[in-house]
Amino acid sequence: MVAVWGPAGAPGRTTVAAGVAAELAGRGLRTVLVDADPYGGAVAQQLGILDEVSGLLSAARLVAGGALDERFATVQRRLSDELRVVTGLPRPDRWVEVRPGALGAIVERARSEAQVVLDTGFSIEQDRAADVGVRPERNGLTLEALEAADDVLLVGAADPVGLARLARSLADARELLPATRIRLVVNRMRPTLGWREADVVAMLRGFGDHTGVHFLPDDQAAVDRALVAGRTLLEAGESPLHPRPRLGRRRDGRDSERQALKSR
Ligand SMILES: Nc1ncnc2c1ncn2[C@@H]1O[C@H](COP(=O)(O)OP(=O)(O)OP(=O)(O)O)[C@@H](O)[C@H]1O
Ligand SMILES: [Mg+2]
Repeated sequence: MVAVWGPAGAPGRTTVAAGVAAELAGRGLRTVLVDADPYGGAVAQQLGILDEVSGLLSAARLVAGGALDERFATVQRRLSDELRVVTGLPRPDRWVEVRPGALGAIVERARSEAQVVLDTGFSIEQDRAADVGVRPERNGLTLEALEAADDVLLVGAADPVGLARLARSLADARELLPATRIRLVVNRMRPTLGWREADVVAMLRGFGDHTGVHFLPDDQAAVDRALVAGRTLLEAGESPLHPRPRLGRRRDGRDSERQALKSR
């Protein structure tokens, strides 16, 4: 169960969550992508799902009625044999309809049959006035997602503001989840920023333990192609954002077979 989280400023949480889910499904693993962002769903729009009914709200109602176990299939939208989506909130103000504990129950049900990837909100600030377990708090959805996760992918943008927020978020997450595995994802890395990957790794050191820093290149053309077509990045054609190595081709575009021949 992977929760994709990250600070404010749209660093790419939804893009990464949809990409990771598509990649898992592409490897033949049954995968459920759940849009659990309490500030409004975006997975349906990103993936071109006509979303008459919110999967998350339907699932939350099933949890309340004790019927999620039998009827979980009815709240998922099928994108392929392996990839299913539980779409998110149709409007941000409807987060109140997801009662405390509901997301945890949905995740438990989903993980009994699939890999689970959760898209979350940006904030984990706790509402001190909220009566936990009785009155819901808006960030409760994100907190529940992080607490249920085996792995948290913490996504931040590669620019100065994004990196400062990423560092802050890592420190906050460590306080809240001392034992959870956290991987950092630095998104939209590009040469014009003027720093190397090693500089970013060094900068992030000291803000909290993590299991590695991963870099995703900025590729506006590929992301736009996917968004406009309502497709996953994997379906939207060649891009350096794809983790899958291509036969005979290296990421830097050089032909590895030709390289190997030359070096013989
Ligand atoms: N690697 C990338 N290269 C180019 N554009 C990107 C990349 N990652 C994300 N984007 C773009 O950045 C914007 C924000 O991405 P996304 O919606 O995934 O962010 P988010 O963190 O989920 O934001 P929100 O706070 O709205 O939930 C989108 O327009 C997306 O296409
Ligand atoms: Mg999002």
